[in-house]
Amino acid sequence: MEIPAGFLVVSLLLSCFATTGYGVTFTSLQRTLEVTASPKEGQVLKAGDADITVTWGLNRTFQAGTDSAYKTVKVKLCYAPISQKDRSWRKTVDEMKKDKTCLVKIVAKPYSASNNSFTWTVERDIPTGTYFVRAYAFNAHDEEVAFGQTTNDKKRDEFVPDPSNHRSPCIT
Ligand SMILES: *[C@@H]1O[C@H](CO)[C@@H](O)[C@H](O)[C@H]1NC(C)=O
Ligand SMILES: *[C@@H]1O[C@H](CO)[C@@H](O)[C@H](O)[C@H]1NC(C)=O
Repeated sequence: MEIPAGFLVVSLLLSCFATTGYGVTFTSLQRTLEVTASPKEGQVLKAGDADITVTWGLNRTFQAGTDSAYKTVKVKLCYAPISQKDRSWRKTVDEMKKDKTCLVKIVAKPYSASNNSFTWTVERDIPTGTYFVRAYAFNAHDEEVAFGQTTNDKKRDEFVPDPSNHRSPCIT
């Protein structure tokens, strides 16, 4: 009996994805959240004695219901590109599970479309550096589905995929 080639390819791909569990990628996330933080652009924060007030919510240019799957929000402190340079342990990787851009959790809360605010004291062990604030919205399966951040689109434009992440999931 001949097995149609198409069937083989499909089942191979399925088993590959099942075992490698290739996760959510940053570039797949919709930027629907508006995020602001109290420090001015370029301001240097001293660990241990600076407060950041972060506000976030749904960008109202998106239709009501865009956020219907959003369950929780995690707000994080992220390294700006200048503070990632030559530091592989802070590297931006498109696959969210491997991304090291945003290592510091500021707060996690149930999702609400508006009136979210949180004041955080920069912890003493936060290294001096240039940061921005990013918020991720998660769905009921605890997967990132959307984000917003304090910087403009530049950060996204500068995104350089990790070459080691470019292998097809089947090869790993
Ligand atoms: C809201 O979304 C629109 C459309 O994507 C975008 O042009 C605008 O800059 C966003 N506003 C903010 C404050 O992020
Ligand atoms: C958000 O805050 C504004 C002003 O404080 C208030 O008028 C509004 O009802 C609040 N919205 C929600 C959803 O709590």
